[in-house]
Amino acid sequence: MTNEKHRKVVYQIYPKSFKDTTGNGMGDLRGIIEKLPYLADLGIDIIWLNPFYPSPQRDNGYDVSDYMAIDPRFGTMADFEEMVEKARGYGIGFMLDMVLNHCSIEHEWFQKALSGDAFYQDFFILRDEPTDWVSKFGGNAWAPFGDTGKYYLHLFDETQADLNWRNPHVRKALFEVVNFWRDKGVEGFRFDVINLIGKDEVLENCPVNDGKPAYTDRPINHDYLRMLNEASFGKADHLMTVGEMSATTIENCLLYSRPDRKELDMTFNFHHLKVDYKDGQKWTIMPFDFEELKRLFHSWGQEMSEGGGWNALFWNNHDQPRALNRFVDVTNFREEGATMLAAAIHLSRGTPYIYMGEEIGMIDPDFETMSDYVDVESLNNYQILLDQGHSPEEAFAIIQAKSRDNARTPMQWDDSANAGFTTGTPWLKPGKSYPEINVAKEKDGKIYSFYKALIQLRKDMDLIAEGSYKAAYQDHPQVYAFERHDQKHRLLVLNNFYGEATEIPLGDFADGEILISNYETTTLGQAVTLKPYQTLAVLQTVDH
Ligand code: GLC
Repeated sequence: MTNEKHRKVVYQIYPKSFKDTTGNGMGDLRGIIEKLPYLADLGIDIIWLNPFYPSPQRDNGYDVSDYMAIDPRFGTMADFEEMVEKARGYGIGFMLDMVLNHCSIEHEWFQKALSGDAFYQDFFILRDEPTDWVSKFGGNAWAPFGDTGKYYLHLFDETQADLNWRNPHVRKALFEVVNFWRDKGVEGFRFDVINLIGKDEVLENCPVNDGKPAYTDRPINHDYLRMLNEASFGKADHLMTVGEMSATTIENCLLYSRPDRKELDMTFNFHHLKVDYKDGQKWTIMPFDFEELKRLFHSWGQEMSEGGGWNALFWNNHDQPRALNRFVDVTNFREEGATMLAAAIHLSRGTPYIYMGEEIGMIDPDFETMSDYVDVESLNNYQILLDQGHSPEEAFAIIQAKSRDNARTPMQWDDSANAGFTTGTPWLKPGKSYPEINVAKEKDGKIYSFYKALIQLRKDMDLIAEGSYKAAYQDHPQVYAFERHDQKHRLLVLNNFYGEATEIPLGDFADGEILISNYETTTLGQAVTLKPYQTLAVLQTVDH
């Protein structure tokens, strides 16, 4: 039986940077309404929206101060309802971002707690003695709780206080949030850092890996997800759910995503986006490790396939520099590289996510000074790099390569001022490439049409939506290859990750047919020569 959800492709919009209709320099919900025909043309099914709730924007909306309202800078509840309604007319649904691990310290829960209300104090994780855990945004993970002498836990910024899921009142309040939006007719949810919600009763010091093992993927996390499922989206089977899993394992993601577990539909993990971290550290510069990338794709692809789990597949999101700059020679092979990267995930087993601008091959912005950066993580880490003894030039080069702002620059619509994103002053400068790389120019181009074709294949072919995953040519030094199998077909997908041609034997697939490729003239034989960054998918019917 095919699961209809497995035919869907998700498109991620960072609302603040998508399309501004008011001239205040920030994208808004009406901007999304305006661009629905564009998204319908691309063929996507669901739009994941990053948070648009009231927030002091210390962490760009991941610091929520009111879960059940719209931040006026993005529009009104009426705009939201109209957006949902209009999108439905195009067959497009919305997936909302639920930030349930922590809330802003400006949320009334935290404010009441601070003013001494014991009921709300138990909404947070307060201790007399902090542990040695390090915040994911740098520095200590605990901050003084007013003048009480206690400390509150913040795994992220100091203004994002972790919520105490052990408290049933907290769970109830958060389940109500999910149901509030469910009842507004959305199609799914993306749960922010949801494998961190289950903290143990006794919090232990943990010198390993900044304390992560002490609070990540704890067994109780699975219990909380089952409760959440049962109390909210589990009641509506068509809703699609994905959990963002920080520093997780395959074993846990199988549990989070296996249908019989009744937790979530699928999981995001980030291991494949750490293959250019030197010694596992983000704020470093290193070329990507292709062997490690293959190993990770194969182990996740195969083990999730064999175990009945489901992966969210992605190269880009609002937290990552553009994949083109990381994995491709963008100067010489932008189009070939962009289409190859797309095929490597869209033909794989799992649900593909496209981050806005990826479908037109957007690249990092090439900012020239630190004052162009806005993100709290980048600003904190620039300082940390200086404190560690890096020169300002070295520290800046690292920020340039690694900043989350690389992905957050305005969507490049055309070559007019500010990339056609706003008539005002953009909250974050657009990338320098916009006169050449923009929707108006790329819409008839190679990358956009290749994405359209890949999205359509998933709708048309059971094999792509549901087929199993098997690693292929694991030892090839420059090709990432895998097979998809079902009762009737087998598909071989070959992806050349380098700017040099390479030959590969085709074995059983020598007499197959080409399903899709980013180069036009390829002839199949006992072996095939893959051109720079070529992707080639060969289909074969299985004889019975
Ligand atoms: C997730 C979000 C990121 C945010 C963090 C804290 O990783 O994707 O943008 O900063 O959670 O909410």
